[in-house]
Amino acid sequence: MSSIDYNPFDYDIDIRAHDVWRQMRDEAPLYRNDEHNFFALTRYDDVLTGLLDVETYSSRYATSLDLMGDEEWTGPLFIFRDPPEQTLLRKLVSRAFTPKAINGLESRIEAICDDLLNPIEGLSVFDFVDRFSALMPPTVILALLGFPRGLEQNLRESMDAGLHIEESATAGSSRELIDQTGNLSHEVYALVPELCEQKRREPADDLLTILATHERELLDGSTRPLTLDEISGYVALIGGAGAETVARFLAWAVVLLAEHPDQLAELRDDLSLVPDALEEILRYEAPSPVQGRRVMRDVELHGQVIPAGANMLLINGSGNRDERHFADADRFDIHRKIDRHLSFGYGAHFCIGAALARLEGRIGLEQMLRRYRDWEVDDEHLEWIHTSTVRGYKSVPLAVNAEPQ
Ligand code: HEM
Repeated sequence: MSSIDYNPFDYDIDIRAHDVWRQMRDEAPLYRNDEHNFFALTRYDDVLTGLLDVETYSSRYATSLDLMGDEEWTGPLFIFRDPPEQTLLRKLVSRAFTPKAINGLESRIEAICDDLLNPIEGLSVFDFVDRFSALMPPTVILALLGFPRGLEQNLRESMDAGLHIEESATAGSSRELIDQTGNLSHEVYALVPELCEQKRREPADDLLTILATHERELLDGSTRPLTLDEISGYVALIGGAGAETVARFLAWAVVLLAEHPDQLAELRDDLSLVPDALEEILRYEAPSPVQGRRVMRDVELHGQVIPAGANMLLINGSGNRDERHFADADRFDIHRKIDRHLSFGYGAHFCIGAALARLEGRIGLEQMLRRYRDWEVDDEHLEWIHTSTVRGYKSVPLAVNAEPQ
């Protein structure tokens, strides 16, 4: 039994996770936690192998420890399904996420960023998360889905509340809560039937039109229209997966660049460096750093047997900092050549929204670099968000310097 204490529900451990993960990589590459009933893998190669092997490591019992119970998930939340069902459910919406479809959103995302950043242009101090990074992604997702404007605050709050985790959580303890609420606010849920009717009458270039007018393919080869609950499930999944993650990603971007002002200056002087810088930001601080799985057969690893039925945490946020894969892995360097980081997962469940997240990241960061010469973070008032899925900040007070260059 290892002396390392990695309790994923502990707020303090969440904050200093990189130190704990480093210790796990070095001293307990297969980590066992009896109290919370899970194993964990932290080295890059082990995490990647686990993500790719969907037959051994199943997502069907949910993918965050607080949700992982004895029953399998059903329904369209394909992040909690395995191939071949997951493949069919994912295929239905994947046409809305092709690079071409996503690049078509560029001018809308620019306009959304302008709408949020223009009103705060005169302020020298503001909360970056509250005023920008937590609002831009739900606004973009609602546009992608085809909802009317004005619900973004509502979607944001329902996702925050649905993913919030208490320190007293245990394996499986949130399961019932999510079953009941579907993680979608009443206001958003209530609009789905009427909007689907509207999309059938007047099809538009959005995701709700796809969900309302296309049939779901079943394993026996037959097809049928989606039920309203299934459509709501898709909306909840895409809203849940795409809002919180991007909010944390952008917050990490401004915090890391404030900590490395020389690299901030380089980016400001040459915006063509932004895409590579974003990959380093994603590697360095994975917004969704832990992926849970259920082990489906006995597996032998690092001299121990992991029994079928165990919970396994694949810690991609740790794999990204593994010295065995990335030289000088704890150094933040926007010029680093990254072959493959694990922040969007890998294999069958690779993030369907990765191209959208990268576009939102690029536009959001470019807008900040165009508007401000540099910025500083009020470290004393940084606040963490504690959720079952994302890791990062709830509040980032920024003092911006808008002096002309
Ligand atoms: C920086 C932002 C983002 C990060 C770090 C991120 C991270 C991830 C990760 C790690 C997975 C794999 C989960 C697993 O293996 O169990 C995933 C899957 C997923 N992501 Fe993202 N994501 C981001 C943005 C988005 C956006 C913008 C959307 C949609 C609008 C989205 C929708 C999804 C969906 C639907 C899945 C499930 C895919 C499947 O199971 O086939 N994500 N994401």
